[in-house]
Amino acid sequence: MRLLVTGGAGFIGANFVHASVRDHPEVSVTVLDAMTYAGSRESLAPVDDQIRLVQGDVTDAELVHKLVAESDAVVHFAAETHVDNALADPEPFVRSNVLGTYSVLEAVRHNSVRLHHVSTDEVYGDLPLDGPERFTEFTPYNPSSPYSATKAAADMLVRAWVRSYRVAATISNCSNNYGPYQHVEKFIPRQITNVLTGRRPKLYGRGANVRDWIHVEDHNSAVWRVLGDGDIGRTYLIGADGERDNLSVMRMILQLMGRPADDFDHVTDRAGHDLRYAIDPSPLRDELGWTPGHTDFEAGLRDTIDWYRTNESWWGPLKDAVEATYAERAQ
Ligand SMILES: NC(=O)c1ccc[n+]([C@@H]2O[C@H](COP(=O)([O-])OP(=O)(O)OC[C@H]3O[C@@H](n4cnc5c(N)ncnc54)[C@H](O)[C@@H]3O)[C@@H](O)[C@H]2O)c1
Repeated sequence: MRLLVTGGAGFIGANFVHASVRDHPEVSVTVLDAMTYAGSRESLAPVDDQIRLVQGDVTDAELVHKLVAESDAVVHFAAETHVDNALADPEPFVRSNVLGTYSVLEAVRHNSVRLHHVSTDEVYGDLPLDGPERFTEFTPYNPSSPYSATKAAADMLVRAWVRSYRVAATISNCSNNYGPYQHVEKFIPRQITNVLTGRRPKLYGRGANVRDWIHVEDHNSAVWRVLGDGDIGRTYLIGADGERDNLSVMRMILQLMGRPADDFDHVTDRAGHDLRYAIDPSPLRDELGWTPGHTDFEAGLRDTIDWYRTNESWWGPLKDAVEATYAERAQ
């Protein structure tokens, strides 16, 4: 199979490419990535000689059409992904996430190529903090941020292209990922690298917001499962029963890194901060037989901390600029 992976130089995409090369050696992988601030050639260095990397934009219809015509399937990760950046400047989110998905859809439509579209549980908005509810594939869309609104719009385009043009597409909406190669602007790597660089970690508000954490390798094994066995036109929710509030995650990072539990600062909460996300992954488990491999969050977090400890050359050059941006926005 010839597989085109958009956004393959980002956090989840790069881990997906590594897993594809490792677990599916029969697949030839082409990565299309614009190499924004979030894309990294270094993340793909371990598999450099086993893949083709094309630097280009998913909104470039001609390029996307050409690459899709040479492929049997597309996994579409490429997107702008950081909520804080979307609040500061939504334009790149509308362009990459909405117009980028449109261009991928038109290319798979005209070339009759299978598509898997990667999305987020943030399209469903948020849940009450203490309730038992979880998101299912039937939960109405209710996005809160410019990021989740553009992902919701992209999902709707995919659904319409399936219905109107019989495009062979599946969608997955996954909860918050953690693991190696995640940009230091994101919550877990930011706190780990704050400790590693002698800064105090930063927690939005009281830290009561709940996220449903999943290891990036589990997200990617689920994407492979849906790509292979998922029903066309269907949406699958990917989650691993990993609900934790941000304060608990912060304390676990501090404890694993040998710091006192209160060695962090509370900072002004994010505007419109979603309270709680929680996924009901039962159709994925019951119908497709998928199970997560990383069920011990503390062990996964320890491995992630070790990865950042030993890969400072990967994240070190990014760190000062990220913290400068956070400091500027806090004023
Ligand atoms: N990180 C999470 O917790 C999470 C959870 C659920 C779903 N997702 C989804 O998974 C996908 C990947 O997320 P991530 O965390 O790896 O993001 P990321 O920001 O780490 O990586 C995004 C990648 O897309 C590339 N890109 C951005 N705009 C592009 C464009 N116009 N053309 C080509 N490439 C472009 C970037 O260069 C980068 O390599 C996104 O679609 C995101 O919505 C992420």
